[in-house]
Amino acid sequence: MDERSFALGPGDGEVAAWIEAAVREIRRAIGEGRALIALSGGVDSAVAAALVHRAIGDRLQGVFVDHGLLRKGEKEEVLAALRDGLGLAVEAVDASERFLQALAGVSDPEEKRRRIGRLFIDVFEEAAQRLGPFDVLVQGTIAPDVTESGHGGGRLVKSHHNVGGLPASMRFRLVEPLRALYKDDVRRVGRALGLPEAILGRHPFPGPGLAVRVLGPVTAERLSVLREADARFLEEIRRAGLYGEIWQAFCVLLDSRSVGIGPDGGRRLGHTIALRAITSRDATTADIYPLPPELVRRVVQRIIAEVPDVVRVVWDVTPKPPATIEWE
Ligand code: XMP
Repeated sequence: MDERSFALGPGDGEVAAWIEAAVREIRRAIGEGRALIALSGGVDSAVAAALVHRAIGDRLQGVFVDHGLLRKGEKEEVLAALRDGLGLAVEAVDASERFLQALAGVSDPEEKRRRIGRLFIDVFEEAAQRLGPFDVLVQGTIAPDVTESGHGGGRLVKSHHNVGGLPASMRFRLVEPLRALYKDDVRRVGRALGLPEAILGRHPFPGPGLAVRVLGPVTAERLSVLREADARFLEEIRRAGLYGEIWQAFCVLLDSRSVGIGPDGGRRLGHTIALRAITSRDATTADIYPLPPELVRRVVQRIIAEVPDVVRVVWDVTPKPPATIEWE
């Protein structure tokens, strides 16, 4: 599809016109064909799905790959929102065991991304064969994904898996209607398309999911520690009414054990969890969000008391740059 049609992000009052032009362009690009979209539950894929659904209706099929790397309760929430909210046909594929196997023993972040990206494509191709034929694959790639992956003039910082990871043998044509947009504009487009705030207000979530927040090797046990800690952090942020003010808030599980004090008063080695909460405009830069001290204290107490084997919680106060938002 002609990317130049989407080179200008919508300014105030331009959203409806942008959508109209995008719908025309998508219809032209897809023609009479059928399209497949990977739904991650994030804002980008949901908005891309809503846009393409508006353009071609039930010739769009959604596939939700459960890679087992999502946050607690997210799969159920996301499926309910997309099927009921969007009225989209969504096939859910549970591939969590396959992803765990593919990640076994892998610590290098870029290798994690490569393996997750490859397996995603495999799972899709299988789903496409089952549900197809399809002519087009729709992706919710947005501008920062493109520039940060070394395309469009940016330098390679991290190989975001949803860009350029498609094998040459893939029979689909690729349609990426959000390529020129940054997050705020994606949300505005989604709002104009009638998507619920529960989806639009969601913090961005990386394609490789919790795999890049479990530093070092990814195992079911380590994922579970991170998922439980993360759920408590987000719960307290929501309870304090701060979720909407924060661009991304999440926990990271560190890959070294640290010394703590057990219930018997003796020293023991346990997990360390890092808290990260940032503000941003488009994820290319970020500032730390000033979490209230009493919130931090409550989160730490809950994580230590409720998540087994966590003995230490630290708070990451580094802006981007020099740090990236994710730790890996
Ligand atoms: P970084 O960590 O590069 O993150 O400052 C910028 C934004 O991108 C998200 N992120 C990813 N998204 N695949 C994605 O789809 C990835 O591999 C990936 N790595 C980071 C990150 O959560 C932040 O919003």
